[in-house]
Amino acid sequence: MGKVGAAAVGAGLASTGLGAFAEPKTARRRVMANDKIVLGLIGCGGMGAANMRNLMGHPEVEVAAVCDVDENRMAGDIADVEKKYGKKPEVFHDYRKMLERKEINAIIVGTPDHWHALNLVHACEAGKDAYCEKPISHNIMEANAMVGAARHFKRIVQVGTWQRSTPEFTDAIAFIRAGKLGRITGCRAWITDTFKAGRQTVQPVPKGLDYDFWLGPAKFVPYKPNHVHFNWRWFMNTGSGMSGDWGVHMIDIALLGMSKGNDLVMPIEVTSHGGQWAYTDDDRTAYDTNETLMLFSNPTFTLQWSVLRDHPGKPGHGTEFISEDGRTLRVWRGGWVVLDPEGKEMPKESSEPPTDHWRNWLDCLASRKAPVADIASVAQTTIVCHLANASLLAGQTVYWDKSKMDIVGKAGKDTQAYSREYRKPWKLPMYKG
Ligand SMILES: NC(=O)c1ccc[n+]([C@@H]2O[C@H](COP(=O)([O-])OP(=O)(O)OC[C@H]3O[C@@H](n4cnc5c(N)ncnc54)[C@H](O)[C@@H]3O)[C@@H](O)[C@H]2O)c1
Repeated sequence: MGKVGAAAVGAGLASTGLGAFAEPKTARRRVMANDKIVLGLIGCGGMGAANMRNLMGHPEVEVAAVCDVDENRMAGDIADVEKKYGKKPEVFHDYRKMLERKEINAIIVGTPDHWHALNLVHACEAGKDAYCEKPISHNIMEANAMVGAARHFKRIVQVGTWQRSTPEFTDAIAFIRAGKLGRITGCRAWITDTFKAGRQTVQPVPKGLDYDFWLGPAKFVPYKPNHVHFNWRWFMNTGSGMSGDWGVHMIDIALLGMSKGNDLVMPIEVTSHGGQWAYTDDDRTAYDTNETLMLFSNPTFTLQWSVLRDHPGKPGHGTEFISEDGRTLRVWRGGWVVLDPEGKEMPKESSEPPTDHWRNWLDCLASRKAPVADIASVAQTTIVCHLANASLLAGQTVYWDKSKMDIVGKAGKDTQAYSREYRKPWKLPMYKG
């Protein structure tokens, strides 16, 4: 338990002494319709670069800068930007220097999860809009701070939960919301965990990687290759296990289906069991086995989130809605089905495919409307995932109050899923929405 930036977050937003909110440092700048979107990329890894390439396919986008703390990760992105625009992007090591560039009006946050909060809050302070990867944060208090900053600086922030913009998920959610499956009494979401990080020894940091900067606000641990690029997600110091990695996608669909709009239903009680029980001879610290049960009221239903080595007879990931009369709607990346109580497929309906997720963000930069995966909405899903971890790590049931966006009582607050002590000199500014 400790402090995040200027505000003690251990006790929750309501009692953190957040009277002393930080003030805007820069004039607010809005992207108007027909403006060029001048982009900067923070984190030239797998998904950051994929987002950049997607956005480069849209005519109003120009990529002006790329930034990474590992210079070995940037060559492909620099070359692609040069090929597309006829000039090299400006290359940064420190994202704060990139944020000083006035001509950049929007950024992509493609860093590992332990960096999102600082990258995003600093970007909002600098007046930039953002496309931020999921899960939005490493813990609950960071999620609240990020929503606060986006609202305070009136920034448009789309989160990378692109399932919200694919037809199987939008059709399935529309079917549930229209009441076509009847009254829903339970949901299931799952991921089959097959990933091993392996065992490695401490090694010298490779030339070109600023490992201290890569760790940023996370706890210092000696360098091992299987702790950094891509693999960071299997270590609780930098990721949040399968709940943060996949729960944010699959639980998101359950919450959306059970909500009227993008302001999501959230559980009142969360109980989780599990641990690192399958991969015992492995460096990873993220649990490989986790069964979480969540209770919702208004409407009343349960949600079971399952991380196991297998889910036989089902896709490796997915979300299900179960109705009072025993019908099930199952949706996964690539399809959806409605099943009768005997498991026989029933008729369903499809509508017009939704707008592309990245196009939706660009449209919202012009209109200043909330995007389909607006940060405040995905913060709710991210927090639900962190609540699963909070219960698992605390070994207790955790209670949530959506009206305060905080845990009720003490259970779960003394876990890294709730807040963390930032490694010096990093501090997270806290903003009120
Ligand atoms: N939406 C999706 O479907 C999807 C899929 C995969 C990953 N993701 C998310 O994308 C994010 C990145 O994941 P990844 O697998 O691409 O990770 P990655 O490790 O491949 O890439 C991250 C990059 O960020 C760099 N980096 C770290 N700290 C930095 C800093 N302070 N400033 C600049 N650069 C920094 C690293 O050196 C690395 O090159 C994660 O949040 C992950 O959850 C989303």
